[in-house]
Amino acid sequence: MAGRLLNAGSILEGSDSRIHFRPAFFRDLLMLRELQRRCFAGSQAYGFVTLLVLYFWSRSHIILACAGEHIVGCAVGDSDRGQTRVLNLCVDPDFRRLGIATSLLNSIEDYFGDQFVTLMVEDKNAGAQALYRIQGYLPVSDLRNYYGRNRHGILMQKQRGASAE
Ligand SMILES: CC(C)(COP(=O)(O)OP(=O)(O)OC[C@H]1O[C@@H](n2cnc3c(N)ncnc32)[C@H](O)[C@@H]1OP(=O)(O)O)[C@@H](O)C(=O)NCCC(=O)NCCS
Repeated sequence: MAGRLLNAGSILEGSDSRIHFRPAFFRDLLMLRELQRRCFAGSQAYGFVTLLVLYFWSRSHIILACAGEHIVGCAVGDSDRGQTRVLNLCVDPDFRRLGIATSLLNSIEDYFGDQFVTLMVEDKNAGAQALYRIQGYLPVSDLRNYYGRNRHGILMQKQRGASAE
């Protein structure tokens, strides 16, 4: 993971244009909360306390995408009974469609190394669903009102090693 670099040259004119990936440190949590606010509407954004719990929880892991000192993406996952869950994935609006989410997702999958990986996505979030399908995730069930009234969730699962459609 440490050596993986993407190029965001057209966005980061005059500064370090390389995107690098690393685990989160305690000092990152405030900036991570700001990223959450930029990426998610309302209650879907993780607050500081949630991030703190996830940071200290032994089963979870937080991976960041950074452009220089700036955090531009994150993935949060955990592993329980041999199954990985991707709990949160987001990329700063100014850094999207550069493959950052794909790299973060792959990093979380590799970090835990489980055969099965699951995640939840809102039914109206077509962009995220497109990304997950490309990465080999398939819908397995619907959860009515999972994100609130009339905001339904789709549970998606990937079997690592199985070929994507
Ligand atoms: C969804 C999200 C994480 C994608 O991040 P990203 O870094 O732009 O994704 P990638 O660059 O890795 O995308 C890889 C591929 O997925 C598909 N994809 C990603 N975002 C898409 C979108 N908005 N619309 C259509 N396809 C999309 C494309 O095929 C893309 O490849 P391409 O750019 O060559 O066409 C980002 O848009 C985001 O943070 N959204 C808000 C938070 C969110 O919805 N998180 C997911 C919650 S389940």
